[in-house]
Amino acid sequence: MLSISVAALIWLVSLRTLTTALDPTLEGTWRDWKATHSKEYVQEEEESFRRAVWEENLQMIQDHNKQADLGKYTYWLGMNHFGDLTNEELDKRLHCLLSDVDNVTKVNGIMFKSSDDPNIPDHVDWRIKGGVTEVKDQGECGSWSFSATGALEGMHFKKTGKLVSLSEQNLIDCSTERQNSGCFAGFMHLAFETVRKQGGINSEKSYPYDGEYRGSCRYDPEQSITRCKSFGKIMENDEKGLQEAVAKIGPISVKIDARSIKFHFYKSGIFREPNNGAKQTNHDMLIVGYNNSSEGKGYWILKNSWSTLWGEKGYMRLAKGSNQCKVTEYAVFPVPDPKKGK
Ligand SMILES: *[C@@H]1O[C@H](CO)[C@@H](O)[C@H](O)[C@H]1NC(C)=O
Ligand SMILES: *[C@@H]1O[C@H](CO)[C@@H](O)[C@H](O)[C@H]1NC(C)=O
Ligand SMILES: *[C@@H]1O[C@H](CO)[C@@H](O)[C@H](O)[C@H]1NC(C)=O
Repeated sequence: MLSISVAALIWLVSLRTLTTALDPTLEGTWRDWKATHSKEYVQEEEESFRRAVWEENLQMIQDHNKQADLGKYTYWLGMNHFGDLTNEELDKRLHCLLSDVDNVTKVNGIMFKSSDDPNIPDHVDWRIKGGVTEVKDQGECGSWSFSATGALEGMHFKKTGKLVSLSEQNLIDCSTERQNSGCFAGFMHLAFETVRKQGGINSEKSYPYDGEYRGSCRYDPEQSITRCKSFGKIMENDEKGLQEAVAKIGPISVKIDARSIKFHFYKSGIFREPNNGAKQTNHDMLIVGYNNSSEGKGYWILKNSWSTLWGEKGYMRLAKGSNQCKVTEYAVFPVPDPKKGK
Protein backbone atom coordinates (compact mmCIF):
# COMPACT_ATOMS: atom_id res chain seq x y z
CA MET A 1 0.00 0.00 0.00
CA LEU A 2 1.10 3.51 -0.66
CA SER A 3 1.62 5.45 2.48
CA ILE A 4 -0.29 8.56 1.66
CA SER A 5 -2.75 9.74 4.27
CA VAL A 6 -6.36 10.49 3.48
CA ALA A 7 -5.92 14.09 4.56
CA ALA A 8 -3.00 14.50 2.20
CA LEU A 9 -5.03 12.85 -0.54
CA ILE A 10 -7.96 15.18 -0.13
CA TRP A 11 -5.63 18.13 -0.14
CA LEU A 12 -3.94 16.87 -3.31
CA VAL A 13 -7.29 16.18 -4.96
CA SER A 14 -8.64 19.62 -4.19
CA LEU A 15 -5.41 21.10 -5.44
CA ARG A 16 -5.63 19.11 -8.64
CA THR A 17 -9.32 19.63 -9.35
CA LEU A 18 -8.56 23.34 -9.54
CA THR A 19 -6.38 22.71 -12.54
CA THR A 20 -7.45 19.32 -13.90
CA ALA A 21 -11.03 18.30 -14.43
CA LEU A 22 -11.40 14.60 -15.18
CA ASP A 23 -12.14 13.80 -18.80
CA PRO A 24 -15.54 12.01 -19.00
CA THR A 25 -14.70 10.49 -22.40
CA LEU A 26 -11.98 8.42 -20.71
CA GLU A 27 -14.42 6.71 -18.33
CA GLY A 28 -14.44 3.40 -20.27
CA THR A 29 -10.67 3.35 -20.80
CA TRP A 30 -10.15 4.01 -17.09
CA ARG A 31 -12.54 1.19 -16.13
CA ASP A 32 -10.76 -1.22 -18.49
CA TRP A 33 -7.36 -0.22 -17.14
CA LYS A 34 -8.51 -0.75 -13.55
CA ALA A 35 -9.93 -4.17 -14.44
CA THR A 36 -6.78 -5.22 -16.35
CA HIS A 37 -4.52 -4.40 -13.42
CA SER A 38 -6.96 -5.34 -10.62
CA LYS A 39 -6.96 -1.82 -9.17
CA GLU A 40 -9.45 -1.01 -6.45
CA TYR A 41 -9.76 2.19 -4.51
CA VAL A 42 -11.59 2.37 -1.22
CA GLN A 43 -12.34 6.08 -1.09
CA GLU A 44 -13.87 8.16 -3.81
CA GLU A 45 -11.26 10.86 -3.16
CA GLU A 46 -8.50 8.37 -3.71
CA GLU A 47 -10.03 7.21 -6.98
CA SER A 48 -10.35 10.81 -8.27
CA PHE A 49 -6.76 11.48 -7.36
CA ARG A 50 -5.51 8.29 -9.02
CA ARG A 51 -7.65 8.95 -12.08
CA ALA A 52 -6.18 12.45 -12.42
CA VAL A 53 -2.63 11.07 -12.19
CA TRP A 54 -3.47 8.34 -14.71
CA GLU A 55 -4.95 10.91 -17.12
CA GLU A 56 -1.82 13.00 -16.88
CA ASN A 57 0.37 9.98 -17.58
CA LEU A 58 -1.86 8.93 -20.48
CA GLN A 59 -1.63 12.40 -21.99
CA MET A 60 2.16 12.40 -21.64
CA ILE A 61 2.34 8.96 -23.32
CA GLN A 62 0.12 10.03 -26.20
CA ASP A 63 2.06 13.26 -26.75
CA HIS A 64 5.35 11.39 -26.77
CA ASN A 65 4.11 8.75 -29.21
CA LYS A 66 2.82 11.37 -31.64
CA GLN A 67 6.31 12.87 -31.71
CA ALA A 68 7.92 9.43 -31.99
CA ASP A 69 5.71 8.68 -35.00
CA LEU A 70 7.10 11.86 -36.57
CA GLY A 71 10.64 10.63 -35.98
CA LYS A 72 11.52 12.83 -33.02
CA TYR A 73 12.17 9.83 -30.79
CA THR A 74 13.43 6.32 -31.47
CA TYR A 75 11.16 4.71 -28.88
CA TRP A 76 7.52 4.55 -27.88
CA LEU A 77 5.69 4.63 -24.56
CA GLY A 78 2.69 2.66 -23.36
CA MET A 79 0.26 2.75 -20.45
CA ASN A 80 1.06 -0.01 -17.96
CA HIS A 81 0.48 -1.08 -14.36
CA PHE A 82 2.33 2.02 -13.07
CA GLY A 83 -0.31 4.31 -14.63
CA ASP A 84 -1.86 5.70 -11.44
CA LEU A 85 1.44 6.57 -9.76
CA THR A 86 3.24 9.90 -9.88
CA ASN A 87 6.88 10.02 -10.91
CA GLU A 88 7.87 10.74 -7.31
CA GLU A 89 5.98 7.69 -6.11
CA LEU A 90 7.57 5.53 -8.81
CA ASP A 91 11.03 6.72 -7.86
CA LYS A 92 10.36 5.93 -4.24
CA ARG A 93 8.80 2.57 -4.93
CA LEU A 94 11.20 1.20 -7.52
CA HIS A 95 14.51 2.86 -6.93
CA CYS A 96 17.01 3.95 -4.41
CA LEU A 97 19.63 6.60 -4.91
CA LEU A 98 23.12 5.60 -3.97
CA SER A 99 25.59 8.39 -3.65
CA ASP A 100 28.62 6.26 -3.00
CA VAL A 101 28.99 4.10 -6.11
CA ASP A 102 32.52 5.41 -6.54
CA ASN A 103 33.66 4.42 -3.09
CA VAL A 104 32.23 0.96 -3.31
CA THR A 105 33.45 0.14 -6.79
CA LYS A 106 37.01 1.00 -5.88
CA VAL A 107 37.09 -2.32 -4.05
CA ASN A 108 39.10 -5.28 -5.17
CA GLY A 109 37.23 -6.80 -8.09
CA ILE A 110 39.06 -8.32 -11.03
CA MET A 111 39.17 -5.76 -13.83
CA PHE A 112 37.99 -7.13 -17.17
CA LYS A 113 40.65 -6.40 -19.76
CA SER A 114 39.28 -5.63 -23.18
CA SER A 115 41.37 -6.74 -26.13
CA ASP A 116 41.66 -5.81 -29.77
CA ASP A 117 40.14 -9.15 -30.66
CA PRO A 118 38.62 -8.60 -34.11
CA ASN A 119 36.30 -11.56 -33.66
CA ILE A 120 33.86 -10.01 -31.18
CA PRO A 121 30.45 -10.77 -32.70
CA ASP A 122 28.44 -7.75 -33.78
CA HIS A 123 25.37 -9.11 -32.07
CA VAL A 124 24.81 -11.37 -29.07
CA ASP A 125 21.60 -12.41 -27.36
CA TRP A 126 21.89 -14.70 -24.33
CA ARG A 127 18.12 -15.25 -24.41
CA ILE A 128 18.51 -17.10 -27.70
CA LYS A 129 21.42 -19.09 -26.31
CA GLY A 130 19.14 -20.18 -23.46
CA GLY A 131 20.96 -18.48 -20.58
CA VAL A 132 18.24 -16.11 -19.36
CA THR A 133 15.29 -17.01 -17.10
CA GLU A 134 11.77 -15.60 -17.37
CA VAL A 135 11.19 -11.90 -16.60
CA LYS A 136 10.43 -11.46 -12.90
CA ASP A 137 8.59 -8.80 -10.89
CA GLN A 138 10.39 -7.07 -8.03
CA GLY A 139 7.19 -5.47 -6.70
CA GLU A 140 8.39 -2.85 -4.22
CA CYS A 141 11.63 -4.55 -3.27
CA GLY A 142 15.24 -3.97 -4.40
CA SER A 143 16.20 -4.43 -8.04
CA TRP A 144 19.83 -5.18 -7.08
CA SER A 145 18.90 -8.73 -6.10
CA PHE A 146 17.25 -9.38 -9.49
CA SER A 147 20.19 -8.03 -11.43
CA ALA A 148 22.49 -10.22 -9.33
CA THR A 149 20.49 -13.45 -9.75
CA GLY A 150 20.32 -12.78 -13.50
CA ALA A 151 24.11 -12.63 -13.74
CA LEU A 152 24.49 -15.73 -11.52
CA GLU A 153 21.93 -17.62 -13.62
CA GLY A 154 23.94 -16.77 -16.74
CA MET A 155 27.19 -17.82 -15.06
CA HIS A 156 25.67 -21.14 -14.00
CA PHE A 157 24.27 -21.71 -17.48
CA LYS A 158 27.67 -21.15 -19.08
CA LYS A 159 29.29 -23.51 -16.61
CA THR A 160 26.77 -26.37 -16.77
CA GLY A 161 24.44 -25.79 -19.71
CA LYS A 162 21.56 -25.74 -17.21
CA LEU A 163 19.25 -22.80 -16.65
CA VAL A 164 17.99 -22.56 -13.06
CA SER A 165 16.06 -19.60 -11.68
CA LEU A 166 17.89 -18.37 -8.55
CA SER A 167 16.57 -16.82 -5.36
CA GLU A 168 16.49 -13.05 -4.87
CA GLN A 169 15.01 -13.59 -1.40
CA ASN A 170 18.12 -15.58 -0.45
CA LEU A 171 20.23 -12.52 -1.31
CA ILE A 172 17.88 -10.01 0.33
CA ASP A 173 17.66 -11.96 3.61
CA CYS A 174 21.27 -13.10 3.80
CA SER A 175 23.37 -10.21 2.51
CA THR A 176 25.18 -8.94 5.57
CA GLU A 177 27.35 -6.53 3.60
CA ARG A 178 27.05 -3.03 4.94
CA GLN A 179 25.74 -1.34 1.81
CA ASN A 180 23.13 -3.98 0.98
CA SER A 181 20.02 -3.05 2.90
CA GLY A 182 17.36 -5.64 2.20
CA CYS A 183 14.59 -4.24 0.05
CA PHE A 184 16.27 -0.89 -0.43
CA ALA A 185 19.54 -0.15 -2.10
CA GLY A 186 22.18 -2.69 -2.85
CA PHE A 187 25.22 -3.55 -4.91
CA MET A 188 25.44 -6.58 -7.13
CA HIS A 189 29.11 -7.25 -6.42
CA LEU A 190 28.24 -7.43 -2.72
CA ALA A 191 25.51 -9.93 -3.58
CA PHE A 192 28.20 -12.03 -5.32
CA GLU A 193 30.27 -11.68 -2.16
CA THR A 194 27.33 -13.04 -0.15
CA VAL A 195 27.15 -16.05 -2.47
CA ARG A 196 30.90 -16.60 -2.14
CA LYS A 197 30.79 -16.40 1.66
CA GLN A 198 27.77 -18.62 2.16
CA GLY A 199 29.17 -21.10 -0.35
CA GLY A 200 26.30 -21.02 -2.82
CA ILE A 201 22.80 -19.79 -3.55
CA ASN A 202 19.41 -21.49 -3.45
CA SER A 203 16.93 -21.75 -6.30
CA GLU A 204 13.85 -19.58 -6.69
CA LYS A 205 11.81 -22.73 -6.13
CA SER A 206 13.39 -23.72 -2.82
CA TYR A 207 13.66 -20.13 -1.49
CA PRO A 208 10.77 -18.22 -3.08
CA TYR A 209 10.35 -14.47 -3.35
CA ASP A 210 8.34 -12.71 -0.61
CA GLY A 211 8.93 -9.18 -1.84
CA GLU A 212 9.89 -8.00 1.63
CA TYR A 213 12.89 -8.12 3.91
CA ARG A 214 12.49 -10.96 6.40
CA GLY A 215 15.58 -10.22 8.43
CA SER A 216 16.39 -13.89 8.93
CA CYS A 217 18.51 -15.89 6.55
CA ARG A 218 17.08 -19.26 5.56
CA TYR A 219 19.83 -20.33 3.16
CA ASP A 220 20.08 -24.12 2.94
CA PRO A 221 23.58 -25.33 1.94
CA GLU A 222 22.14 -28.71 0.97
CA GLN A 223 20.14 -26.98 -1.74
CA SER A 224 22.97 -24.93 -3.21
CA ILE A 225 22.76 -24.57 -6.99
CA THR A 226 25.97 -22.78 -7.90
CA ARG A 227 29.00 -21.03 -6.43
CA CYS A 228 31.15 -18.07 -7.29
CA LYS A 229 34.64 -17.30 -6.04
CA SER A 230 34.89 -13.56 -6.71
CA PHE A 231 33.61 -10.89 -9.04
CA GLY A 232 34.85 -8.86 -11.94
CA LYS A 233 34.07 -5.39 -13.24
CA ILE A 234 34.31 -3.45 -16.47
CA MET A 235 35.93 -0.05 -16.62
CA GLU A 236 33.62 2.98 -16.62
CA ASN A 237 32.92 4.64 -19.98
CA ASP A 238 34.20 1.61 -21.88
CA GLU A 239 31.26 0.48 -24.00
CA LYS A 240 33.59 -1.45 -26.24
CA GLY A 241 34.91 -3.38 -23.24
CA LEU A 242 31.37 -3.90 -22.01
CA GLN A 243 30.41 -5.35 -25.39
CA GLU A 244 33.34 -7.74 -25.31
CA ALA A 245 32.44 -8.77 -21.75
CA VAL A 246 28.83 -9.51 -22.72
CA ALA A 247 30.07 -11.60 -25.66
CA LYS A 248 32.76 -13.50 -23.76
CA ILE A 249 31.48 -13.71 -20.19
CA GLY A 250 27.69 -13.62 -20.36
CA PRO A 251 24.94 -11.43 -18.88
CA ILE A 252 26.40 -8.44 -16.97
CA SER A 253 24.84 -6.61 -14.00
CA VAL A 254 24.58 -2.85 -14.39
CA LYS A 255 23.32 0.20 -12.52
CA ILE A 256 21.53 2.83 -14.56
CA ASP A 257 19.80 6.18 -14.19
CA ALA A 258 16.09 5.36 -14.57
CA ARG A 259 14.64 8.51 -13.10
CA SER A 260 12.92 9.80 -16.22
CA ILE A 261 9.14 9.35 -16.22
CA LYS A 262 9.47 8.10 -19.79
CA PHE A 263 11.64 5.24 -18.57
CA HIS A 264 8.75 4.04 -16.39
CA PHE A 265 6.39 3.92 -19.36
CA TYR A 266 8.85 2.65 -22.00
CA LYS A 267 7.08 0.27 -24.37
CA SER A 268 9.18 -0.36 -27.50
CA GLY A 269 11.98 0.83 -29.74
CA ILE A 270 15.49 1.99 -28.82
CA PHE A 271 15.45 4.11 -25.68
CA ARG A 272 17.60 7.18 -26.10
CA GLU A 273 17.28 10.51 -24.39
CA PRO A 274 18.27 13.12 -26.97
CA ASN A 275 20.25 15.18 -24.47
CA ASN A 276 21.33 12.20 -22.34
CA GLY A 277 21.00 14.04 -19.04
CA ALA A 278 21.88 10.97 -16.96
CA LYS A 279 23.33 12.02 -13.62
CA GLN A 280 23.07 9.43 -10.95
CA THR A 281 22.30 5.73 -11.14
CA ASN A 282 19.32 4.50 -9.13
CA HIS A 283 18.17 1.24 -10.73
CA ASP A 284 19.65 -2.17 -11.46
CA MET A 285 19.26 -4.22 -14.61
CA LEU A 286 20.96 -7.02 -16.50
CA ILE A 287 22.57 -6.69 -19.93
CA VAL A 288 21.68 -9.89 -21.79
CA GLY A 289 22.87 -8.88 -25.25
CA TYR A 290 23.54 -6.17 -27.79
CA ASN A 291 23.41 -5.39 -31.48
CA ASN A 292 26.24 -3.37 -32.94
CA SER A 293 25.57 -4.26 -36.51
CA SER A 294 24.28 -1.01 -37.86
CA GLU A 295 26.03 2.35 -37.89
CA GLY A 296 24.81 4.57 -35.05
CA LYS A 297 21.83 2.35 -34.35
CA GLY A 298 23.40 -0.12 -31.98
CA TYR A 299 21.72 -1.03 -28.74
CA TRP A 300 22.04 -2.96 -25.50
CA ILE A 301 19.38 -5.50 -24.59
CA LEU A 302 18.50 -5.05 -20.93
CA LYS A 303 16.39 -7.32 -18.76
CA ASN A 304 14.28 -5.52 -16.19
CA SER A 305 12.37 -6.80 -13.13
CA TRP A 306 9.09 -4.95 -13.62
CA SER A 307 7.15 -7.92 -15.09
CA THR A 308 6.42 -8.51 -18.78
CA LEU A 309 3.86 -5.67 -18.75
CA TRP A 310 6.72 -3.17 -19.04
CA GLY A 311 8.74 -2.59 -22.22
CA GLU A 312 9.32 -5.22 -24.87
CA LYS A 313 7.92 -8.16 -22.85
CA GLY A 314 9.96 -7.01 -19.86
CA TYR A 315 13.09 -5.98 -21.82
CA MET A 316 14.47 -2.69 -23.07
CA ARG A 317 16.69 -1.83 -26.00
CA LEU A 318 18.97 1.01 -24.93
CA ALA A 319 21.01 3.07 -27.39
CA LYS A 320 24.67 2.08 -27.44
CA GLY A 321 27.67 4.36 -27.78
CA SER A 322 26.78 7.41 -25.69
CA ASN A 323 26.67 5.96 -22.19
CA GLN A 324 22.88 6.35 -22.11
CA CYS A 325 21.42 6.23 -18.59
CA LYS A 326 25.04 5.93 -17.35
CA VAL A 327 24.99 2.27 -18.31
CA THR A 328 28.77 1.90 -17.97
CA GLU A 329 29.12 3.47 -14.52
CA TYR A 330 28.94 0.21 -12.62
CA ALA A 331 29.10 -3.07 -14.57
CA VAL A 332 29.96 -6.26 -12.68
CA PHE A 333 29.80 -10.04 -13.04
CA PRO A 334 30.37 -13.09 -10.82
CA VAL A 335 33.40 -15.30 -11.41
CA PRO A 336 32.45 -19.00 -11.20
CA ASP A 337 34.06 -21.28 -8.67
CA PRO A 338 35.32 -24.21 -10.74
CA LYS A 339 35.94 -26.47 -7.75
CA LYS A 340 32.53 -27.07 -6.30
CA GLY A 341 28.89 -26.53 -7.03
CA LYS A 342 26.44 -28.69 -8.87
C1 LIG B 1 33.19 8.45 -0.37
O1 LIG B 1 34.47 8.98 -0.60
C2 LIG B 1 34.55 10.37 -0.38
C3 LIG B 1 35.93 10.85 -0.81
O2 LIG B 1 36.93 9.91 -0.51
C4 LIG B 1 34.25 10.65 1.09
O3 LIG B 1 34.30 12.03 1.35
C5 LIG B 1 32.86 10.11 1.44
O4 LIG B 1 32.60 10.27 2.81
C6 LIG B 1 32.76 8.64 1.08
N1 LIG B 1 31.39 8.19 1.27
C7 LIG B 1 31.10 7.08 1.96
C8 LIG B 1 29.65 6.78 2.07
O5 LIG B 1 31.95 6.35 2.42
C1 LIG C 1 20.53 -5.48 -35.55
O1 LIG C 1 20.05 -4.20 -35.86
C2 LIG C 1 19.79 -4.00 -37.23
C3 LIG C 1 19.41 -2.56 -37.42
O2 LIG C 1 18.43 -2.15 -36.53
C4 LIG C 1 18.69 -4.97 -37.66
O3 LIG C 1 18.43 -4.82 -39.04
C5 LIG C 1 19.14 -6.40 -37.37
O4 LIG C 1 18.09 -7.30 -37.68
C6 LIG C 1 19.53 -6.55 -35.92
N1 LIG C 1 20.08 -7.86 -35.68
C7 LIG C 1 19.57 -8.71 -34.80
C8 LIG C 1 20.26 -10.02 -34.68
O5 LIG C 1 18.59 -8.45 -34.14
C1 LIG D 1 30.27 -0.93 -32.83
O1 LIG D 1 29.83 -0.08 -33.86
C2 LIG D 1 30.43 1.20 -33.87
C3 LIG D 1 29.73 2.02 -34.93
O2 LIG D 1 29.54 1.32 -36.11
C4 LIG D 1 31.93 1.05 -34.14
O3 LIG D 1 32.55 2.31 -34.12
C5 LIG D 1 32.51 0.17 -33.04
O4 LIG D 1 33.86 -0.07 -33.31
C6 LIG D 1 31.77 -1.14 -32.93
N1 LIG D 1 32.27 -1.82 -31.77
C7 LIG D 1 32.68 -3.07 -31.80
C8 LIG D 1 33.24 -3.58 -30.53
O5 LIG D 1 32.59 -3.78 -32.77
